[in-house]
Amino acid sequence: MRKEELVQLIGSLTTEEKVGQLIQLTGNFFDAEDTVMETGPLKKIGFNEETFDLYSTGSLLNVVEPKNIYDIQKKNLAKTKHNIPLLFMADVIYGYKTIFPIPIAQTCSWNFDLIEKAAKVMAKECYDSGIHVTFAPMVDIVRDIRWGRVLESPGEDPILAREYAKSMTKGIQGDESILPQDHLAACVKHFAAYGAPIAGKEYNGVELSEEALHNVYLPSYQAAIAAGSKLVMTAFNTLNGVPCTGNKWLNQEILREEFQFPGVLISDYAAIEELKVHGYTANDLESAKMAIENTVDIDMKTSVYANHLPALANENPEIMKLLDDSVLRVLELKNDLGLFEDPYRGLDPLDFSKGKRLTTQHRQTSLQLAEESVVLLKNEQVLPLKKAEKVAVIGPYGEEKATIGFWAITGDTKDTVSLLEGLKQLADEGIVLPAFAKGCNILPASEVDQYDKYSQAIDIDIHSEETMLEEAIKVASNVDTIVLALGESTYQSGEGGSRTTPCLPKNQVKLLKALKKLGKKIILIVYAGRPLLLDEIVEDVAAILYAWFPGTMSGQALANILYGKANPCAKLSMTFPRSVGQLPIYYNSGSTGRPVQASNPNHRFASRYLDEDNSPLYCFGYGQSYTEFAYGKVELDKESMDENGTITASVTVKNTGNCAGKEIVQLYLQDIAASVVRPVKELKDFRKVILDSGEEKTLQFKITEQQLRFYSPKEGWISESGAFNLFIGKDSEDNQQQGRFYLIKN
Ligand code: IFM
Repeated sequence: MRKEELVQLIGSLTTEEKVGQLIQLTGNFFDAEDTVMETGPLKKIGFNEETFDLYSTGSLLNVVEPKNIYDIQKKNLAKTKHNIPLLFMADVIYGYKTIFPIPIAQTCSWNFDLIEKAAKVMAKECYDSGIHVTFAPMVDIVRDIRWGRVLESPGEDPILAREYAKSMTKGIQGDESILPQDHLAACVKHFAAYGAPIAGKEYNGVELSEEALHNVYLPSYQAAIAAGSKLVMTAFNTLNGVPCTGNKWLNQEILREEFQFPGVLISDYAAIEELKVHGYTANDLESAKMAIENTVDIDMKTSVYANHLPALANENPEIMKLLDDSVLRVLELKNDLGLFEDPYRGLDPLDFSKGKRLTTQHRQTSLQLAEESVVLLKNEQVLPLKKAEKVAVIGPYGEEKATIGFWAITGDTKDTVSLLEGLKQLADEGIVLPAFAKGCNILPASEVDQYDKYSQAIDIDIHSEETMLEEAIKVASNVDTIVLALGESTYQSGEGGSRTTPCLPKNQVKLLKALKKLGKKIILIVYAGRPLLLDEIVEDVAAILYAWFPGTMSGQALANILYGKANPCAKLSMTFPRSVGQLPIYYNSGSTGRPVQASNPNHRFASRYLDEDNSPLYCFGYGQSYTEFAYGKVELDKESMDENGTITASVTVKNTGNCAGKEIVQLYLQDIAASVVRPVKELKDFRKVILDSGEEKTLQFKITEQQLRFYSPKEGWISESGAFNLFIGKDSEDNQQQGRFYLIKN
């Protein structure tokens, strides 16, 4: 349809019907089984029965099965007056049926082409299932491991988050504005800074300076919008005292004006109603007014718009205009998806199972991304394993298939490859299937009750913990090497998964400590939705593979890595603290006038803790390989540049080990003196290079004035003349190769 036709269509709607387009409900309103979890208030929605017509609803969320989507659309079109199709939106964050590693793991690959390829697979599977919008990418920067949604976040760094936002949006939507076949609309979320709740507590307020917002937190959302994201979702939290969903500065000045976002702004689940709960509005009527004035187009899962917007619009022409604008944005989205021509977009009613899901090719992409996301944190020359080595797999994650993480709500754990199954697949290559003992449950039975209704899904073995532990010791006693598969429960991370002490469950630590006494080599694999506190166990093991939740192909990826069929190449996208007291901890921190001096590290009056080191356990950008890389000296082609110039930094990287490998070469800058003090280091560029054993490559990085800009609350985006330190290395703490250059502005 042409825009004029859409405008005409809006002209033919009653005010209630217009508002209907702005309402989003779950499938149970249309008698479809809700296939996925509800994440909002459990109270019943109180629609005004006299004015509310279910068949004027604009969109549904989280109906994800093709037949349900088809049936609901059909029923709706038969009953609705204006033939406006429903939009189907869903939380498909890192895979529909083929599940990829969780996003925090994906960004550890630093392979954004591969991430885009994975997003394309996800889009294809969604398209074939009739889904029109995915609530992805989530690009909230996070610096605190206590927050449960670390798992869906791209991590702590603005450049990685920006690349993730771009590649996901392009993969999901394709490159055209009229959404092509095999793609769907992206919805970047949660605008803004949802990943920075005070003390890591879910839904808590966020307090951030304008400078931190612009320099660190906002660029990832902007990148998704620049890549064409059709939707943006508001955040639940307050930002400096004002809830994001009713935040004029955020939604009008930044989103609509500065970022020029033309698309649909959807509230998070019940976030319009929660404006009142926050204490920002006195009642639902005020909430409806506040949200529409801030260009929030869709009210997710409440009756606030339905019950109050018609009267507000009928009484006030300005609100009617805002309502019309919102409806137009929603109809334009439906039009861009081609729904007026084909409301069953992507579906084949003759065979709903026909679409491409979990194909060999899709699994292969998931496998590759998993292999590139697993981080080798420690290796005392014990990995890769030798074929002839006598190995036992111990631990609850040895046979566990729930390795897809909390938010893979459309995935099926039955489809995943467990670690033991992955190892079995290597049998043809002469690897003997290791003995196995579970050793303990993922969680102690006594802790399960705190997981609310999800506790029913937590698998507790009927054998007592003592029996399992004894069995594990027996099995482990007969081998040389123990592969110990431990981790957080799926239910310990994700939305509502904040933890004060995110460490391994205590029964698992007990198992590890008991095995340690056997004096064998222990190779620890950790499954988790966030960096866990590993300080109490790191010295007990000879190697650590940080698997995160690796998705459908987890077991195969890990088996390949354990036996050297794949060489680990991931590097951390988030800092691992030593203790909770260090939180928030991140590499690009501000400077202090009293840094710790290497010559006198215990001096009292320095910026430090008396009882803990300043350094993290593992820094941002860190990760080992089975080979070694040597960095040559950094060369700069000149010493200074003006604002139109560039400086090229070159470095030669050589694979000095015995096998081929991939290295992520990282470039950091430090603005030595600025009108707003800059971080001690900021990632500006990186390359992932493949090098054969003995091979070397010279890499060139071009530095432009744009990379030297920062946001100053007084002047906006600026760069300033002066000196800059440059570091090229293997992680954020590697200062061996450095240079200095000057920006000279006229
Ligand atoms: O998309 C999600 C969001 O991330 C958290 N609240 C619920 C939404 C829809 O399920």
